[in-house]
Amino acid sequence: MERKELVTQVLLAAAAFLVSYFFIKSLKNPLRKIPGPSGYPLLGNILSLNPKNIHNQFYEMARKYGAVMKVKIFGKPIVVLNSREACLEALIKTGTDFQGRPPLKRNNMVVPTNVVFSNLSDEQAMLRRLFTKAMKAYGPGVAHLENVMQDTIRGLVDGIDQKGDQAIESTELSIGYVCCVLASMMFGEKYSYDDELCHQMNQVNSQVIEATDPFSSGAVLDAMPFLYDFKFLFRDQHKKLDSANEAATTFIQSRIDDAKQSFDANHMRGCLDFFIEMQKNEIGADGKPLLDDVMLRGLLMNFLTAGLETSRRSLAQIFLDLLHDPTLQKILQAEIDSQFEPTQTIALKDKVKLPQMEAYMLEHLRFLTQVPFMIPHMAVRDTEVAGYKIPADTVVLMNSYHVAHNPDVFDEPFKVKPDRFLNGSGELIDRDHPLRQNFLGFGAGRRQCPGESFAKSRIFLFLANILQKYDVKVEGELPERDVRKYPMSILLTPPSVKVRFTRRQ
Ligand code: HEM
Repeated sequence: MERKELVTQVLLAAAAFLVSYFFIKSLKNPLRKIPGPSGYPLLGNILSLNPKNIHNQFYEMARKYGAVMKVKIFGKPIVVLNSREACLEALIKTGTDFQGRPPLKRNNMVVPTNVVFSNLSDEQAMLRRLFTKAMKAYGPGVAHLENVMQDTIRGLVDGIDQKGDQAIESTELSIGYVCCVLASMMFGEKYSYDDELCHQMNQVNSQVIEATDPFSSGAVLDAMPFLYDFKFLFRDQHKKLDSANEAATTFIQSRIDDAKQSFDANHMRGCLDFFIEMQKNEIGADGKPLLDDVMLRGLLMNFLTAGLETSRRSLAQIFLDLLHDPTLQKILQAEIDSQFEPTQTIALKDKVKLPQMEAYMLEHLRFLTQVPFMIPHMAVRDTEVAGYKIPADTVVLMNSYHVAHNPDVFDEPFKVKPDRFLNGSGELIDRDHPLRQNFLGFGAGRRQCPGESFAKSRIFLFLANILQKYDVKVEGELPERDVRKYPMSILLTPPSVKVRFTRRQ
């Protein structure tokens, strides 16, 4: 046999061996039993998925494939849980089986240790415990924060009044308000809504989000982390990641250094002081603080990013709702007027007096479901859900967008209908009512959002106080309000709108 022929035969035999090996391996993989669209070898379904519209694509697939489905990205299977029952089984019944997070290379480069994207570990558990404690100490229900929010709202109202007849971009207003409240909660001081510090917070946050956006071309580095070392191929991505890391580190560390210098245990100012105290008191076996500055920066970045990105989208959606539905605006204002004098300040405890408002808040959260697949989960051991075997390290997405828009549960799911959450007597339906149970927008179980009540209280105070004082009207063209058309960019993003405020009294 000639040498060339021999080489060809060896190559063919090797190829046949590899094909058989992967074929037999795939037959053994329990995930093959899970239904889903067929894709191409190696690429999987990547060519048919549109990252900006993936919430609708997964919605349509959920209608077709049912409670559990599978897609493949570059040959890597991702399991998607579409029903409330399957999500709750994974998030609660199976304990921590599904509570891991897949490694996200770019995120770990920018914010190396943090609560949101770290896999389950003792360190993640400690950071989450501290985060939750700080939210409790300085969060909603605490007089300090309520005062801060009231001050911020007064500042916001002054800001709106100063603009006079000028329309205001809803995004600008929401970011200003949210940054102010977050800054006060973290650092303990009072800030005006266009304070320089708030601008800086917004800038740092935007840089981090842009550098780590899972729906940008850089996502290939998360899917195939070995590419990260080929710097020359991804110069732009590396540049973005380096400058986001530098901006976040410099900004947050300077706040930490300042706070350490002026720290006074008898006069705690906010979450940062709370963490500094932890750093002093919680010492490991090696004599070093359990919470080092890298972790502390991670915690503060989580406050900033998780708090700002979600709340600003909520407020943008609220303006769209009020402008699209002037009757809703009138109903909410009539309810406020029936309970409060025009000059009275509305506080958190007043929520129960405003069932229409509460019903609208529930409907708003349901309609938007701005974190449509929660944050990616990962099985930390071989486990099962809905009768399917799931091997360790499988990425699992919880399709809370489908749960919240399931037409079998919600009549006209893509319309904003707050009344669905009220009973015949105009009271809020009970917590265990199926409609309320079918909202998983804050997650559930070990990874449930620790900022839920903070977010809700802030949105409530904003909405109630603004509507008490102003009529809102659109300036220029009113963008469409259809969550199916919102672009997916980390979260679902409602369009910004120009708002004109007119004093009611
Ligand atoms: C309307 C506002 C908000 C919504 C809809 C929301 C929703 C969510 C969702 C769906 C998750 C993922 C749950 C999972 O993967 O199982 C999450 C996680 C998280 N949220 Fe929120 N969130 C909001 C506001 C906030 C705020 C204001 C903060 C703090 C300032 C916050 C802090 C966090 C953190 C730290 C996590 C990660 C928890 C972990 O992985 O252990 N969120 N949020």
